[in-house]
Amino acid sequence: MSKTAELQAAIRDVADFPKPGIIFKDITPILSDGKLFRQAIDLLCETAGDRKIDKVVGIDARGFIFAAAVADRLGAGFIPVRKKGKLPWKTHQAAYSLEYGEAVIELHEDAIKPGETVLLVDDLLATGGTAAAAVSLLEKLDADLVGISFLIELTFLHGRDNLSQHPIHSILSY
Ligand code: PRP
Ligand code: MG
Repeated sequence: MSKTAELQAAIRDVADFPKPGIIFKDITPILSDGKLFRQAIDLLCETAGDRKIDKVVGIDARGFIFAAAVADRLGAGFIPVRKKGKLPWKTHQAAYSLEYGEAVIELHEDAIKPGETVLLVDDLLATGGTAAAAVSLLEKLDADLVGISFLIELTFLHGRDNLSQHPIHSILSY
């Protein structure tokens, strides 16, 4: 089996979570298996290509799990984009739509120097609202966004249409 097929086989579909009608892609069986977790990080690191990455940015919360490991592997710094109210220093904020209402994410104003190369990492691309908000924060800091990488892409939600200015990579797609 290919590395991606092994990862895909490990993902657990959970029906009606967190609400009726949603089939949740549970990545915890990948995280708990040392070989599979390493394969996931290997494949995410490959999406950086040949560019030297200064900072890997992860999105609160599941994105942190992958982004921090990728940063370590690439010898890059790790930068958290956090949900509102969690970062202690001065922040930029971006709002994005949820099924009901809005959420806000934040990034420290001094997290990235203008022109630093950045790889943005999250576990899942669904509607793209979360990642697009994170991109808007990176643009405020004049980051050089080399790419946006996801473990999983739900292609039927067309989230990449919200991120079309930047190279998008997903390891597994549904
Ligand atoms: C989930 C997932 C992505 C986001 C994708 O995060 O981890 O970050 O939704 O959805 P979108 O493309 O429609 O914006 P969520 O905030 O639900 O949970 P988490 O805190 O566990 O990461
Ligand atoms: Mg998330």
